[in-house]
Amino acid sequence: MVSENNYDVLVIGAGPGGYVAAIRAAQLGMKVGCIEKERSLGGTCLNVGCIPSKALLESSELYIQAKDKLPAHGVQIQGLSLDLKKCMERKDQVVAQLTGGVAGLFKKNKIDHILGTAQIHADGSVTVRQNKEESKLKAKHVIIATGSKAIALKDVPIDGRAIVDSTGALALPRVPKHLIVIGGGYIGLELGSVYLRYGSKVTVLEALDRIVPAMDLEVGKAFQRILQKQGMEFQLSTKVQKATVQADGSVEVGIQDASGKNTSLQADVVLVAVGRRPQTEGLGLQEAGIKTDEKGRILVDKNFKTSLANVYAIGDVIAGPMLAHKAMEEGVAVAENLAGQAGHVNYEAIPSVVYTWPEVASVGLTEEQAKEKKLDYKTFKYPFTAVGKAIAMGEKDGWVKLIADKKTDRLLGAHILGPRASDLIAELVLALEFSASAEDIARTSHAHPTLSEGVKEAALGLGGGTIHA
Ligand code: NAI
Repeated sequence: MVSENNYDVLVIGAGPGGYVAAIRAAQLGMKVGCIEKERSLGGTCLNVGCIPSKALLESSELYIQAKDKLPAHGVQIQGLSLDLKKCMERKDQVVAQLTGGVAGLFKKNKIDHILGTAQIHADGSVTVRQNKEESKLKAKHVIIATGSKAIALKDVPIDGRAIVDSTGALALPRVPKHLIVIGGGYIGLELGSVYLRYGSKVTVLEALDRIVPAMDLEVGKAFQRILQKQGMEFQLSTKVQKATVQADGSVEVGIQDASGKNTSLQADVVLVAVGRRPQTEGLGLQEAGIKTDEKGRILVDKNFKTSLANVYAIGDVIAGPMLAHKAMEEGVAVAENLAGQAGHVNYEAIPSVVYTWPEVASVGLTEEQAKEKKLDYKTFKYPFTAVGKAIAMGEKDGWVKLIADKKTDRLLGAHILGPRASDLIAELVLALEFSASAEDIARTSHAHPTLSEGVKEAALGLGGGTIHA
């Protein structure tokens, strides 16, 4: 049936890209519908990604604080125990609150949540299917924001119990004795940290000779040393060949190790975290004439226009880092463009964060990228061992590394390995956005005592010299 409900904008997908695009478009006076197959809004990020993983990271960090760190503060706890079920229930409540929050924002902005899966046609119309019901909708503009899904490994079949992807790892019924993580990227290290803190032996198998490949190499190496110090084990340059669930429920993982030897490892649970790919199945892209690249990402121009008139794409389905805040920026930009404004995303200033402890946060160029671009650059690293607040907190691991142009002093990149790096990076994102020099940062007053003094001192180090180290 053809619905009479004609929209200015139909957004497909209610993740951080889609729901933000929908809200911004509605704020700008458009009639908006958002097609989402799940009843719970918020996409991967809110339901089975960023938010639940941060809830578990927070709970497990408090546990490890109580277990290992509080005695140094004179706090003795007897009979400390872990209630994983309670921790999972809390995580579910956090998710429910935030997904409910998006539903509330839809209501407030008069956005229709159209339940179902969408298929786009060459004339720009959209068919929505839910169970056996089918409806056809028309809109002036369609925004595809269907996100991404976990990449599967051929001979490592996910069963949701012994071999899991990130969704399964967010809801394990018990703490595994041995967790093998395939992939030393964001998901592997964050969820690996959760179970390491809860007492699992955690072994990370990484195909490359380093973890978190997109990260500044020096930061990546120091980060790995810190995680090793916490007990996480790494096998780099290791190829996983297959994983088989045994009769007793454990998993045998066949690997080729760094020396080329074929061997195997045993685990209770295997987490596959080897990256994500765009989720475009069922959208009818090819039939509608919407072009994709060799990785299946939808091709768009700088205004997020696809090859089909009036159809746009944002977030994980297009090129760029698969990060919620990148998708959100694109959601705002595309909605503003549709309203005749000058929406724009500065891809040079998109931060990325690994929410382990300590955290790792970066923005701008890595040192390797600065070298590759043959830039004349300077770097400086300021350790948290020389930051008063970090010493008072007892969190001295890591440093602030800044990279600036040697001639102009303009900030090129910032990499923080240390406590609360996720919050500290905001200042440096702003600095990049405003094309600030290292001296601009160094001459800015930073409250004492705060962790942000590490940023100021690193900037001082790029110029006349630090005060405290
Ligand atoms: P990732 O791309 O961060 O890391 C995947 C890792 O797996 C890489 O180091 C890669 O070399 C390795 N790998 C690939 N194939 C392998 C194989 N067969 N055997 C062993 N290692 C292999 O991907 P991840 O961790 O799955 O995360 C997916 C996406 O989700 C990322 O693009 C990230 O942007 C996003 N994400 C972001 C978070 C954050 O912002 N804190 C948290 C979690 C995910």
